[in-house]
Amino acid sequence: MKMRAVVEGVGHYLPERVVPNSHFESFLDTSDEWIKSRSGIERRHFAAEDQTTSDLAVFAAKMALENAGFSADDIDGILVATSTPDLTFPSVATMVQYELGMTSGFGFDVQAVCAGFIYALANANALIVSGQARRLLVIGAETFSRIMDWTDRSTCVLFGDGAGAIVLGAQEGTGGPEDRGILSTDLNSDGRYRDMLYVDGGVSSSGTSGKLRMQGNPLFRQAVEKLTSTAEAALQKAGLNDKDVDWIVPHQANIRIIQGTARKMGIPMDHVIVTVQDHGNTSAASIPLALSVGVNEGKIKRGDLLVSEAIGGGLAWGAVVLRW
Ligand code: ACO
Repeated sequence: MKMRAVVEGVGHYLPERVVPNSHFESFLDTSDEWIKSRSGIERRHFAAEDQTTSDLAVFAAKMALENAGFSADDIDGILVATSTPDLTFPSVATMVQYELGMTSGFGFDVQAVCAGFIYALANANALIVSGQARRLLVIGAETFSRIMDWTDRSTCVLFGDGAGAIVLGAQEGTGGPEDRGILSTDLNSDGRYRDMLYVDGGVSSSGTSGKLRMQGNPLFRQAVEKLTSTAEAALQKAGLNDKDVDWIVPHQANIRIIQGTARKMGIPMDHVIVTVQDHGNTSAASIPLALSVGVNEGKIKRGDLLVSEAIGGGLAWGAVVLRW
């Protein structure tokens, strides 16, 4: 028998304010047509001025707990994947812990930009299979609207705010690929590409929070290749291949990256969960948001085999194979 980290509940939260592409036409040399055709994005949500990343995370966490049928007392720890924390410290995870009324257990943040949720899942999985925790909340939450340069049309039209969360619990499995839960993970980073996507401020450099800078085109070319290879590597580690996949639940940065990766893997687009048109790129929140939407739309069902992959600043990238 082998201990598995099984998904017991899922939830998400999107801020009320929906911003269509036409919003940007009033102050930038851009168009709905350009944004839609180059990225697949039609709209995104922006947090209200007084809403922080932890506020979004708490809503998603409460929905995931309700969906799982547990209370905060049943949780051993909280992992929050984010690159846009409320404060430099303490972690968003401890703020969520406070808001949920938890006075025991642990919380910490994971920072791997758009790949953050994959990294958080891999860490949560390791804590569970090694017996250090029995039930964890794993959250991806971001307010990327706060690090946009509103004069840079090549970046500010692409990102949005949101949060998604899952409850992961320990369950015994056979150790084979038919088990429910996380079956394999694959993590990678390569700091040689650190200038391709970064924020030009920080505590120990400028003392500011900075704005996002991206070389979109070279990143695009790296993305399809690295996302395909990490997804294939994770499937291989699980003893599975592309044909076994029911759903790709990818990071939602650009529909053309999502399509290119699916094509390379030989998986048709009706087996891919796509939310980029409605959410934009919500960085670490995009995969748990897509999981929650996929479940709510009745697409992802118990027993389905999922592969999730993401790439972001670092570059950092990775994949998780899990049976829902
Ligand atoms: N409106 C109109 N024109 C624009 C806009 C805009 N909003 N933005 C850029 N352009 C122009 C450019 O200036 C350029 O003009 P030029 O040819 O006169 O120089 C032209 O459009 C083409 O620009 P490209 O950058 O070559 O366009 P591309 O087809 O590569 O699409 C995009 C750009 C959407 C950014 C794409 O490259 C992409 O999605 N890259 C990957 C992003 C990604 O993977 N992110 C994931 C990680 S995110 C994270 O970790 C936080």
